[in-house]
This record gives sequence, structure tokens and C-alpha cells, in this order.
Amino acid sequence: PSEANAGLIADLIRDVPDFPKPGIMFKDITPLLARPSGLAAAVTELVAASPRDVDLVVGMEARGFIFAAPIALALGAGFVPVRKPGKLPGATVSETFALEYGTETLTVHSDAIPAGARVLVVDDVLATGGTVAATAALLKQLDAELVQVSVLLELTALDGRAKLAEHGIERVSSVL
Ligand code: PRP
Repeated sequence: PSEANAGLIADLIRDVPDFPKPGIMFKDITPLLARPSGLAAAVTELVAASPRDVDLVVGMEARGFIFAAPIALALGAGFVPVRKPGKLPGATVSETFALEYGTETLTVHSDAIPAGARVLVVDDVLATGGTVAATAALLKQLDAELVQVSVLLELTALDGRAKLAEHGIERVSSVL
């Protein structure tokens, strides 16, 4: 990222201790989203960090949606939501996994991603890597190709990249 954008983005992400549980340092992106220049810088840098030749951009509920949709528009790709259980009306595939603060199940419409589709996965934060690993497993169930994972912020202390590498996911790009 440009130094100016990196500084702007970093300054607009707020650390909230002990949320949603004691011991968790929550990264609150709402100040970034509310500032036009911050939102623009975040989307610009995520687009710059992402490959051009993708068919679909997948974003994970809920904060992943915010960035995945504008990136899909910029790349001329479609957007597919990965959702928490009980939200998608059609036939779905699902994956359950451990999160930094609990367990979660993610689902996606079975017919949303054709076999062989080239997919970019976008989220706001990479923490333990559980969310991305589960999303990658959903893509595998549907025989899609995970081209890259792009995130705004990586919590390097949690070593999510190592977890993703164990799952064969090496192409991970973070803006901060
Ligand atoms: C947060 C964040 C990522 C995920 C990262 O989502 O938006 O999706 O956690 O953590 P991980 O790498 O340890 O899996 P959260 O589950 O809080 O849901 P939300 O986006 O609906 O707020």
C-alpha cells in the first residue's frame, strides 16, 4: 500500500480490549468505514493487492461483505456471500470450524460457484485463519479454484497464515 493509505487505514481501525470476550483485542473497522477517505483507501489497496483474472469474489458474513462487493465491481467479477447458518434459502454446502472466540458454521449456495470457477476470497481481518480455512473448504466441496485470499488486516501474532498453509493456501495478501 502507499504510505499515506496505510497510515490512514491503520489510524482509523480502533482497538477494543476484551470484546466480545475477555482477553480478545477486537479490531473495530467502523471508524474506517465511516470516513470516506478511509473507506476509499481500504478498497483501493485491496483491489491493488488482488489478481485481475477472477470470476467471482467471495466475502464472508458480515464484515467480509463490506469489502468483497466493491472489489468484485472493480474487478468486473461477481460477488458470492458466504453466510452463517439459516440465512440462505437454496441448497447449501457447509463447514464447521473453531473461531478465535467460539465455533462457527459457514454456508454457501451450492449453485453459486460453478466447478472450476476462479475465486478471490476477501475478508476484513485474518485472525486464526479459521474463517478463511472453512471458506476454502467450501470452495473445495464445489470444485472451485481459490486463486487468492485478500484481507485488510492480518493479526500476525495469531499465525493464521501458518494454519492456511497447512490447508495448502499460500496466496494470502494483507494490506496491513
Ligand atoms: C471476524 C472477521 C473475520 C474473522 C477472522 O468475523 O470479520 O471474518 O472473524 O477470524 P479468524 O481468522 O480467527 O477466523 P466474525 O466471526 O466476528 O463475524 P462478523 O464479520 O459477522 O462480525
